[in-house]
Amino acid sequence: MKNIVILISGRGSNMQAIVEAAIPGARIAAVISNRPDAAGLAWAAERGIATVALDHKQYASREAFDEALAAAIDSHDAHLVVLAGFMRILTPAFTQRYEGRMLNIHPSLLPAFTGLHTHQRAIEAGCKLAGCTVHFVTAELDHGPIAAQAAVPVLDDDTEATLSARVLVEEHRLYPAVVKAFVEDRIRIEGLRVSIHNE
Ligand code: GRF
Repeated sequence: MKNIVILISGRGSNMQAIVEAAIPGARIAAVISNRPDAAGLAWAAERGIATVALDHKQYASREAFDEALAAAIDSHDAHLVVLAGFMRILTPAFTQRYEGRMLNIHPSLLPAFTGLHTHQRAIEAGCKLAGCTVHFVTAELDHGPIAAQAAVPVLDDDTEATLSARVLVEEHRLYPAVVKAFVEDRIRIEGLRVSIHNE
């Protein structure tokens, strides 16, 4: 059984998709949020999943917060750390500790549009395709090895809201599929290139 710890900051719809996928061989050991009022935390607690609120504002430095976060993750014996809308920049020591076993989902077709407001920026840039990326986390924000991507069309009348809703449907499909592949040990990383072997 592989223990998965999911980190969130908000509504947690990707966390829900991963929980609801009920991946054989995987146990959602805990959901941790840096925001005690994150809606996703209540959702997980209602389902009997261990939840932890670690308010980053209570820590004197980014390093101190990341150390507490790592202690919480390790106390659940995590094989895989899943960032699902976790809105904190992580220290290099933290990303190194979970190298090759920490995933993130980013709402753009990386390497385009790292950072925030990805959908609005894709619309303004005139992109015909937008999408999402699941990648392994490294010290450089939104730059780690890409595990999987999904693309959707950008329509003429799209707004940030309509495009993000279309991408979110793909996020909820893509992320559980990559987590499942990790749990089944079907993922290989070589430099920036990731291959996922068939089931
Ligand atoms: C998603 O769009 C994800 O790609 C981004 O933050 C959002 C989180 O949404 N990293 P949710 O909390 O999973 O609903």
